[in-house]
Amino acid sequence: MTDLRTPKKGRKEKSFYIKTFGCQMNYHDTERMSALMVEQGYTEARSAESADTVIFNTCSIRDKAHHKGVSGLGHFRRVKRENPKIKLGFAGCVAQHDGERVLKSFPFLNFVLGTDNIDVLPEILYRVDQGESPVMAVGFDPSQDYSIETKIIPGKKQAFVNIMKGCDNFCTYCIVPFTRGREKSRRVEEVVADVENLLKQGVNEVMLLGQNVNSYGKSLGGKKAGQTFARLLRELEAMADRLDADGITDPEGKKSKEGKGGKESKPKGLLRLRYTTSNPKDFDESMMEAHRDLRRLVPHLHLPVQSGSPDVLRKMKRYQPIQTYIEKVLRLRELVPGIAISSDMIVGFPTETEADFEMTMDLIEKIRFEGIYAYAYSERPGTKAVELGDTVPEETKKARLHMLQHRQGQIQAEDNCRYQGQVVEVLVEGNSKMDPNILSGRTPHWKIVNFSYGDSISEPNKMISEIAPVKITQTSAFALRGELIEGSK
Ligand code: SAH
Ligand code: SF4
Ligand code: F3S
Repeated sequence: MTDLRTPKKGRKEKSFYIKTFGCQMNYHDTERMSALMVEQGYTEARSAESADTVIFNTCSIRDKAHHKGVSGLGHFRRVKRENPKIKLGFAGCVAQHDGERVLKSFPFLNFVLGTDNIDVLPEILYRVDQGESPVMAVGFDPSQDYSIETKIIPGKKQAFVNIMKGCDNFCTYCIVPFTRGREKSRRVEEVVADVENLLKQGVNEVMLLGQNVNSYGKSLGGKKAGQTFARLLRELEAMADRLDADGITDPEGKKSKEGKGGKESKPKGLLRLRYTTSNPKDFDESMMEAHRDLRRLVPHLHLPVQSGSPDVLRKMKRYQPIQTYIEKVLRLRELVPGIAISSDMIVGFPTETEADFEMTMDLIEKIRFEGIYAYAYSERPGTKAVELGDTVPEETKKARLHMLQHRQGQIQAEDNCRYQGQVVEVLVEGNSKMDPNILSGRTPHWKIVNFSYGDSISEPNKMISEIAPVKITQTSAFALRGELIEGSK
């Protein structure tokens, strides 16, 4: 049997680097792996080449994403040859689904870590340190429970919180149910206590994560057991209200508490609560009411529809008459005026005709989404849609994708004009990628805003994770430009 002793803390300092591909769930897993490695005495390296341990956290959602992760490993063949001491790990959805095969092509890998094995990383690193290689950990946890404590890098103000894992939907194009396993939820009470703890540590923006958050709680008895997503949202808001009322958190930043070096400001509490992703079939009135009632829940909803054609949706197994989707959007807009709704779209799904595609184009006219992520269909091994064949030629997929993105860009440019001259609240995330003298952040509606500030701001970095009032001076399809309102900070 393998030695399962817990690795000792406080050994010689080592460094790590994790290269992440894919969705928020993967980024969240990276955060968890990083926190676990920091607990083991590792420090984060600036580059993969300078680290002792490098992990590729991969995504398999489309063929391109899959190959990006695998070709990254190809590059490491040389690095490993030059520095055989470097430890290489392969993690994420490709590792889960295709780990054995990848290992055959890259026998120099030290470990392969599946998506349900993140928490055994310290043990795996220990075994690799002891000379065992390669170590494989790609099984799924057979227990029904899902119980964790969220781990963040100390000082972080934005936290991703997994409320469930896996997916039972098996949309016919999608590999996720195979890479992430069956759906399991954490109990409402556990998530609330976890988030409370994060808020006390200074987190002020929480993103709840699940592949289909609207079916949250199903594995725990659902409605009958009081384990529903709408209830979770309400309980989170109530807890955050209580922390503010008890003076444990201070959204205005006016009070302070005694700290080691004198007065310290108190944590701000929950400024923004968001979640992703929502499958429209389970998005019901109770969710709409939660959006209407909860002030911390941002007025933004990502509600992926995938296609405007009933025939394509049926073949995708998305189980939702398109008219019902439209009605849900209209009802939600009635209850929460101005709510931003975004979506994912797939073009070129097998058998999609020109007429089917036109229905998708019509849908974006009708809904006028705040934004869409559109993709060309990519056949994924083992999924049901493979049986339909990959019938739409790549050129046609490309042309449809271009047409959809082009029109959507025009819609966004037109609709974003309404922000001109308005003052919006921006939660500052950092410096703009284009210009270090510009700060960048998001509105509650998830719009990116780049803004300038006057000479009175000597330490702009202090504004990161704060909410800043910004006057919008210029709009475009994708981002807004503005100026900080003088005297506000
Ligand atoms: N759980 C989420 C989706 C996660 S995957 C949901 O149900 O909405 C993110 C997006 O990738 C999907 O919404 C879909 O638009 C896209 N996608 C998934 N599989 C794909 C495939 N085989 N080809 C192209 N796009 C795909
Ligand atoms: Fe994939 Fe569908 Fe599950 Fe989303 S709901 S992860 S698209 S199977
Ligand atoms: Fe990719 Fe896995 Fe996410 S396949 S999109 S990283 S769940």
